[in-house]
Amino acid sequence: MEVYIVIEVIKKDKEILFNLETKNSMYQMKVDKYNVLKHLWYGSKTLSDMEYLLDYPDVGFSGQISEVDDDSTYSLDTLPLEYSCFGVGDFRVPAISVIHNNGSDAIDLRYESYSIKKGKYSIKDLPSVYSNYSDCDSLEITLKDTSSDVYVVLKYGVFNNKDIICRSAVIRNEEENSIKINKAFSMCLDIPYGSLDIIHFHGRHAMERQFERIPITHNIYEFSSTRGTSSHQESPSIIICDKNCNEEFGNCFGATLMYSGNFKTQIERDQLNQVRMIMGINPDTFSWTLEQNEEFFTPEVILSFSDKGFSKLSHNFHDIIRNNVCRGKYSLESRPVLINNWEATYFDFDALKILEIAKTASSIGIDMMVLDDGWFGKRDSDKSGLGDWYANEDKLKMSLKDLASKIKSIGMKFGIWFEPEMISEDSNLYRNHPDWAVKIPGRKPGRSRNQLVLDITRSDVRDYLYESISRIIKDCSIDYIKWDFNRSISDMYTYSLSSSNQKEMGHRFVLGLYELLEKLNHDFPNLLIEGCCGGGGRFDAGMLYYCPQIWCSDNTDAYDRSKIQYGTSFIFPISTIGSHVSAVPNHQSGRITPLSARSVVAMAGSFGYELDLNTLSDLELENIKQDIKIFKKFNKLIHNGDYYRLSNPNDDNFALWEFVNDNEVLVQGIIFRSEANQLRYNIKLKGLKENMEYIDSNTNKVYTGSALMNGGILLPKAFGDYYSVMIHLKKQY
Ligand code: DGJ
Repeated sequence: MEVYIVIEVIKKDKEILFNLETKNSMYQMKVDKYNVLKHLWYGSKTLSDMEYLLDYPDVGFSGQISEVDDDSTYSLDTLPLEYSCFGVGDFRVPAISVIHNNGSDAIDLRYESYSIKKGKYSIKDLPSVYSNYSDCDSLEITLKDTSSDVYVVLKYGVFNNKDIICRSAVIRNEEENSIKINKAFSMCLDIPYGSLDIIHFHGRHAMERQFERIPITHNIYEFSSTRGTSSHQESPSIIICDKNCNEEFGNCFGATLMYSGNFKTQIERDQLNQVRMIMGINPDTFSWTLEQNEEFFTPEVILSFSDKGFSKLSHNFHDIIRNNVCRGKYSLESRPVLINNWEATYFDFDALKILEIAKTASSIGIDMMVLDDGWFGKRDSDKSGLGDWYANEDKLKMSLKDLASKIKSIGMKFGIWFEPEMISEDSNLYRNHPDWAVKIPGRKPGRSRNQLVLDITRSDVRDYLYESISRIIKDCSIDYIKWDFNRSISDMYTYSLSSSNQKEMGHRFVLGLYELLEKLNHDFPNLLIEGCCGGGGRFDAGMLYYCPQIWCSDNTDAYDRSKIQYGTSFIFPISTIGSHVSAVPNHQSGRITPLSARSVVAMAGSFGYELDLNTLSDLELENIKQDIKIFKKFNKLIHNGDYYRLSNPNDDNFALWEFVNDNEVLVQGIIFRSEANQLRYNIKLKGLKENMEYIDSNTNKVYTGSALMNGGILLPKAFGDYYSVMIHLKKQY
């Protein structure tokens, strides 16, 4: 492993230069003579102090801090700053704003001190990227308000070999009185040059993380959620790139927030064409009272830079998320291929039906049966039962324990669905604890999917959930949990907080969720938890700290999924993407696609099935058996290899992707529409060794890496729509 000088501090006169370096990136800040912490650079390594790029223009209406005598070129409003403050002359979007005891909401943070530590810092009560100690160094820079004892500690975790810098901020109140934090973003990044685009990932239920690229004009862009989750509608991830940046070429930065609640990313292009990006907890739904000597911890942002386009940027994120975010037994290990009964039965099943599906599944190589919604309380539709986490034996016609042991006796693992954070009004839990539901006193709460939200900011509610869930895990030797969440949170109010602190609830809800998940992870180290939120409505690096895979979308249609998984892949590794083969016509889109297309799309994820296998023909079952064999054969390559996007399914007539490791290459995808006299597509592969030879496992043809990357490979002639592609090549030695 190469070793770099990761964090360098150079002091000269009254200035201090902080130079953070990873293998291919450099991040610079400088403390100036006024103790202002300026941002100088985030980009390629230049071996230079990048201060020389700063212009100090004399701009009318951009004023000076009091220490500056008559130099009208020094303005907080025009300088690139490391952590922008509200109310003292920087009129761009601020990263922080607090209300002091005297009612003022201004803050002017100046440099106080720094420290460097080996290893990666962690963040109290929040998920954060972890290190093996030697691969990361952490820098802390302490800033202090000029006229109060409010401190902000900026934290940087620098992963030298991974081109990753993690960021977070801690606010500390050493005032005699409490302060109120109105806004505490995790990071601010000022980019004082360039003509840039934003890539963000918007969506809706069943159409999550749609790729959209827009130019940054003079404006303030906001990408956010106020839904209580990171949401289907917008991902807490962003890419900022050069205009000419593409998969292989150009400079780009990416940032993803390790947080599962309300977030906001703001991007402003200012009067001088400079771009500022800030990211963190959404201040629209947040405030926090900080008593004397208390600290507030902001969630982590994972930041990466690539000077080789989006493929490299994605590899950086995939690598850090796989190795330093996901935890536990399954983070890098093969996951069980599962069958889930949701689209097979919805609420209409008993234990016999589940066993019939399980038996067929086991006979064709599926490893785990997952019992979805409807096994508990009185739950024959989505109108009742949430909160009553004990099996409905009348419906199952068997105890859950017996069902579990029968499934295990045929050699399968057993998983089960929960939606812990919800409550149905028609449930015993609600009848016994109506005050446990989230609602505003005197206002009837809105329902969504007929349900209310459970107030998990309360410790008694969390205790109830932990007891209920852990009892079932132990009684039935549960191997896997699908942790669902099927509505946005409205009518926010909690009896656990005073009326003046109600805006703490959103964040406390997320902290409550993390506490529960942490306890389960700790107490059941062999349990695999799959995150879910009506599909992929809470698909974020925060959840991935507790659940190494997340159900990516309720949409199982192969065509739609290829676009959803395309967008998801920019930040999130393939192993984290829960993806299943379902029946046709597809239940969400009505589209009919061949089994082979559904298989290759689902294989680009944590693979599974979600249909009644007993309605399929022998030939279809045989094909599925073969597909499972193929997936298991390539599982490690798919989950831990380098993933390349070979097309943009929004523009091209095909969705194609490639997995590469040291020994082999797998190209998969679908050609959307065929034509008579179909012309062949020629696809250039990526990430191969130019001088090595690769043999096609199917045709035995041998190509050089250089030929495959520069000349490409011919795709098969599509005959019929949604024609699947699978090409496997082995490196020859
Ligand atoms: C939404 C999930 O995304 C589905 O897969 C299924 O589990 C349903 N909830 C069950 O209610």
